[in-house]
Amino acid sequence: MAVLITGGTGYIGSHTIVELLGAGYDIVAMDNFSNSKPAVLDRILEITGKKIKFYQTDMLDKPGMEAMFRENRIDSCIHFAALKAVGESVEKPLLYYKNNVTGTLNLLELTVKYGVGRFVFSSSATVYGKPASVPIREDFPLSPVNPYGQTKLMIEQILTDLAASDSAMSVVILRYFNPVGAHKSGRLGEDPCGIPNNLMPYITQVAEGRLPYLPVYGNDYNTRDGTGVRDYIHIIDLARAHISALEYTQSHSGVECFNIGTGRGYSVFEIIRAYEKATGKRIPYQIAPRRPGDIDECYADPGKANRLLGWRAEYDIEDMCRDADRWQSMNPSGF
Ligand code: UFG
Repeated sequence: MAVLITGGTGYIGSHTIVELLGAGYDIVAMDNFSNSKPAVLDRILEITGKKIKFYQTDMLDKPGMEAMFRENRIDSCIHFAALKAVGESVEKPLLYYKNNVTGTLNLLELTVKYGVGRFVFSSSATVYGKPASVPIREDFPLSPVNPYGQTKLMIEQILTDLAASDSAMSVVILRYFNPVGAHKSGRLGEDPCGIPNNLMPYITQVAEGRLPYLPVYGNDYNTRDGTGVRDYIHIIDLARAHISALEYTQSHSGVECFNIGTGRGYSVFEIIRAYEKATGKRIPYQIAPRRPGDIDECYADPGKANRLLGWRAEYDIEDMCRDADRWQSMNPSGF
């Protein structure tokens, strides 16, 4: 039996496939390459020595998706495929609702039709919006502040209702905090199109000399040094959380959601210093205006995942910086 991975060539999907293959799982993966490259598949093969069954298809192409279910024996699904740029989601909300929500409905109709009852969903800490306090627990109010976050919350709701309608279903929702870093080999990592939106890929490109300096979006936040605080988690720790989640679906039914973070927050200045220490490279920066929609502090209480999934983050901030830097310097222009 195989695990279906949607969004399999993306940053999180590809690292998760490597970990799953290492743990002995059979994989069927799909992607439309809208934000990833076919070369990722070669890198997965190179790292693991295993070739996966892959379909280039789109979540909105239901017949294309159905072929995967017809031609393989799939018993579980990890659903990563989604558009994920917060700013773009504000400019093009319908694109986001259609792709993320309608795409997921297509997928779920097929999982129901083909009796695939175990499902892991890639959600985000963005569903908490601006939290009233930190660390954030799973029972905090959910109030996303942009269409991207709304699509994640809507899908969480759809999955909750679906699991309630079928007692044999088992759904795990993982709410990721800020994934960073890369595979230790330096052959797999984050490869954003154009100028990076997120902090770590921006820093790695500054370190490589591709960008002149890091804009620090605001130094007047209500945090210890005025810059935004986030819970950065190593991509390999995050990938492994999916194995724990899949195992959990084997012995539980219903729906359960988990924060996937380290439980520690770092400010932008702290990340710059950690990166400089880990790599010996200097990161020039300039203070810039706040980015609309950003919040002061966001970090997880990962206690529920520690207790119920038996999962905990193992890598520290220096590992994250060193591995991100290795990836960028070995692949200056990405894949
Ligand atoms: N930042 C900078 N300069 C940059 C980029 C980011 O100063 O060039 C700052 C931000 O202001 C913020 C911190 O670095 O304080 C982290 O920003 P990221 O863009 O890396 O991450 P976010 O926390 O804004 O968002 C990420 C994902 C979202 C997800 C969210 C969940 O991009 O998809 O985490 O909390 F929803």
